[in-house]
Amino acid sequence: MIYTVTLNPAVDLVLSLDALKQGEVNRVNTENVVIGGKGINVSLLLKALHTESTALGFVSGFTGALIRDGMREKGINTDFIELDAGFTRINVKLHAEEETEINGSGPSIPKDKLELFFAQLKALKSGDTLVVSGSVPRSLPSDIYAQIASAAADRGVRLAVDAAGELLRSTLPYKPFLVKPNREELGALFGEKAETDEDILRLAEKLQALGAQHVLVSMAGDGALLKTRDGRIYKAPAAKGQVVNSVGAGDSMVGGFLAALERGEDLPEALALGTASGGATAFSVGIADYEKIMEIYNTVNSGVYCIE
Ligand SMILES: Nc1ncnc2c1ncn2[C@@H]1O[C@H](COP(=O)(O)OP(=O)(O)OP(=O)(O)O)[C@@H](O)[C@H]1O
Ligand SMILES: [Mg+2]
Repeated sequence: MIYTVTLNPAVDLVLSLDALKQGEVNRVNTENVVIGGKGINVSLLLKALHTESTALGFVSGFTGALIRDGMREKGINTDFIELDAGFTRINVKLHAEEETEINGSGPSIPKDKLELFFAQLKALKSGDTLVVSGSVPRSLPSDIYAQIASAAADRGVRLAVDAAGELLRSTLPYKPFLVKPNREELGALFGEKAETDEDILRLAEKLQALGAQHVLVSMAGDGALLKTRDGRIYKAPAAKGQVVNSVGAGDSMVGGFLAALERGEDLPEALALGTASGGATAFSVGIADYEKIMEIYNTVNSGVYCIE
């Protein structure tokens, strides 16, 4: 089973206006409510690829209910921990002449609820996969990613990490199965430039020296590079299409990659399905559906090649 963790989910209120005028009453052209959070996006993408997952994390209030019910309606297992106070945050996305975001901070998570979460992790078994991604609410300890990674390592659970900076670094001693930085995150982690394939592969090797097993580096419109734990390097071309909204492309890549492995496919195929899923989401309004991913998959798959 694949488990995804979203510590700080969100409900996005996406409003489009012709112009945004501060200090005045503004009227919207379109309004949409979208459930989100990086782990939730991974679960949505897995569902699109008919792969089962269980979404973990913390929800509360009416917005938490919206997320839980929305996931269940789509047939995704959830085992969210309900908080007694506050409400799951609302992020307001204003699309006018420019894009403006106002993100909520989310409810605080008390110690007893955090203990419940770690009790859930104890039920995971060897061979399960745990995906941790996204930001950490202020109320949680800053070493929460390391604690999660340690719990996964103790149980022989494959850990996939999609996070930046210290959050990612703190998991490395626990030998995560997969890490998926994008180019900027990879460069920032080591304070070096990550522009050419050579730069990226050198930094991927550094990540492996620190403990990462497979390193998957997403490069937006330039595709992706995979350095496997046995030292092989594969490159996937980006899918070709019209970008609609690239939010969630990275989450979709993680989902597609893991879905392929769950089906017993090999690493180059996982790279291809991850890359196709990321592209398909970039070309969709929300997280991509099955048809969109498969439309792209064959062309990406035939373009994957082994550098080394
Ligand atoms: N413009 C694009 N054209 C084609 N494919 C894209 C495009 N943007 C993203 N993708 C695909 O999705 C993958 C992940 O995208 P990206 O590198 O932007 O991830 P990210 O920065 O982690 O995104 P996020 O964190 O917002 O979900 C890329 O490796 C690529 O395969
Ligand atoms: Mg990302």
